Amino acid sequence: MKMNMKVLILTGILTARAVAYDPCPTENQGVALCCRLVSGEVGVDCGFVVGEIANITLFEEACQEDNAVPRCCQDLVLGFGINCTDPVGLDN
Ligand SMILES: *[C@@H]1O[C@H](CO)[C@@H](O)[C@H](O)[C@H]1NC(C)=O
Ligand SMILES: *[C@@H]1O[C@H](CO)[C@@H](O)[C@H](O)[C@H]1NC(C)=O
Repeated sequence: MKMNMKVLILTGILTARAVAYDPCPTENQGVALCCRLVSGEVGVDCGFVVGEIANITLFEEACQEDNAVPRCCQDLVLGFGINCTDPVGLDN
């Protein structure tokens, strides 16, 4: 119960950041993160994207500087992206 409250509060703060291009419009997967590949698995070692994301190209470029890939996640907990999926416009 305590955990759920924390997640709700975090999500509320994060979704309050409005951007023109929303790479992560899916409910429950609305947190834009850059996630590094760790032993072939995406979703661990994630961090928030710095700056505004105008389109998918910039999202990818912002992550590439960190050797990471763009992801849309439900939450970020201790560097782990939770319940992640591909952002809008990513073709691979
Ligand atoms: C992950 O996000 C999807 C999309 O919102 C949702 O349907 C699903 O229930 C979530 N999975 C978990 C384990 O929370
Ligand atoms: C993404 O935005 C940047 C900066 O506004 C722009 O230079 C670039 O052409 C855009 N790319 C796409 C694919 O829209």
